[in-house]
Amino acid sequence: MTAALAHRPAEPVLAARDIRHVYGSGATAFEAVRGVSFEIHRGEVVLLLGPSGSGKTTLLQILGGLLRPTHGTLSLLGETISGLSLERLAALRLQHFGFVFQAYNLFPTLTAAGNVEVALDLVGMRGRAARQRAQQLLEDVGLGDRGHHYPAQLSGGQRQRVAIARALAADPAVVLADEPTAALDSHSGANVVSLFRRLADDGRAIVIVTHDSRILDRGDRIVEMEDGRVVDPAHRRHP
Ligand SMILES: Nc1ncnc2c1ncn2[C@@H]1O[C@H](COP(=O)(O)OP(=O)(O)OP(=O)(O)O)[C@@H](O)[C@H]1O
Ligand SMILES: [Mg+2]
Repeated sequence: MTAALAHRPAEPVLAARDIRHVYGSGATAFEAVRGVSFEIHRGEVVLLLGPSGSGKTTLLQILGGLLRPTHGTLSLLGETISGLSLERLAALRLQHFGFVFQAYNLFPTLTAAGNVEVALDLVGMRGRAARQRAQQLLEDVGLGDRGHHYPAQLSGGQRQRVAIARALAADPAVVLADEPTAALDSHSGANVVSLFRRLADDGRAIVIVTHDSRILDRGDRIVEMEDGRVVDPAHRRHP
């Protein structure tokens, strides 16, 4: 093997090339993402910043295979996934991606453990194995003693950590989070960010969309969007 090959940087977990996305058609067509290329490697926490309406959520949904881009390609672990059938994409999503949202999106009638078990069920884990794994995941996010609590009995930060435990059910390579700390006080927000840091250190790739200036120094890299494009780092307002 040549030195050049030996030193080739590791393959990105996720790579997006020239992603464009148009909502609607005809007179109401709006191009929300306008030619974005993006790569993320294992161990990285990337913060995705930008004003309201700049296309962050749209891009995050495309990166996670929740939304098909109008144009461009997406590769996961070297495999192009943008052309796959919706069915195959849904299966890949369950296996490789974890999603965390601002509003937690927990089932209010299920306990913390129950919420995690729903996600385990989706990847085929049930019964005793699922209960044990749910308990382990809750312990991993510092909620080992809260498994029997319902969402209404948990604080915002605890609910978000349940949501993160749920996102980790399939042990995904990529975790995509949209404003995960927006509804949290600074202490809970810091806890959640530390948790993301640990998930990255375990070898995952993490993308966090955020407006939260409190966490700007907690990422490895900042990608800033404006009007559907990534802002040139040289012109960035937050160096
Ligand atoms: N389903 C949709 N149909 C039509 N237009 C949409 C749709 N979703 C988003 N848009 C438009 O696309 C643009 C980008 O929206 P997006 O939600 O990606 O922005 P964002 O950066 O996440 O904003 P915010 O910080 O407010 O969450 C906005 O102008 C929005 O109005
Ligand atoms: Mg958004």
